[in-house]
Amino acid sequence: MEVHNVEMVMSAVQASQYPDDNLPEIALVGRSNVGKSSLTNTLINRKAFARTSSQPGKTQTLNFYKVENQVFFVDVPGYGYAKVSKSARAKFQVMIGEYLEKRIPLRGVIQLVDARHAPSKEDIEMYQWLTSDDMGGLPVLVVATKADKIARGKYNHAESTIKKDLQFNSEVSDFEMFSSETKYGKDLVWEWIEARMLD
Ligand code: GTP
Ligand code: MG
Repeated sequence: MEVHNVEMVMSAVQASQYPDDNLPEIALVGRSNVGKSSLTNTLINRKAFARTSSQPGKTQTLNFYKVENQVFFVDVPGYGYAKVSKSARAKFQVMIGEYLEKRIPLRGVIQLVDARHAPSKEDIEMYQWLTSDDMGGLPVLVVATKADKIARGKYNHAESTIKKDLQFNSEVSDFEMFSSETKYGKDLVWEWIEARMLD
């Protein structure tokens, strides 16, 4: 999609604050600092629309970005950030659960993992949950990001390690290598999103 128009519509912490535009929504999940805001910026051709930070745990609300008046990207707070208090983390979990399990306009979830490393325990738990029967076949795109930090010749190996550790389920999920630095994978991520918008 050629993006000309993006609006940050809402920072929500509860369902009553979600937008009521009835547009399809795509959620972005992943550990703090993995590159969710950077992926959003890359997809919408902006340098710093979604706030990025070298300081993990910056995004603490569900941020709804309306793109071309056609789709919302929903930036979900990163999990696995140790410095967030236990009670704050429990609140996040309720907020995220409420959104991902119940939100009707949600058409798919992009789960980001770091292309350089094996998935963490929390990455695996998140993926297992997203692809569990509870979610009713919600499409999941696993994006292995920061791919610019590994050699092109290692992409296949990284992909197979990540898929094996996640117990990748190709019935409900797809996989893409990605880099916000080089824009590698951008077109294929957009293709996946556009297909979900038509589902
Ligand atoms: P939280 O909002 O804290 O959950 O983090 P986030 O997942 O939104 O991560 P963010 O996009 O803020 O990126 C974190 C850091 O990783 C920043 O310093 C980015 O510049 C860097 N980064 C993100 N994507 C890439 C990438 O593809 N390649 C490289 N080399 N660095 C990246
Ligand atoms: Mg962020």
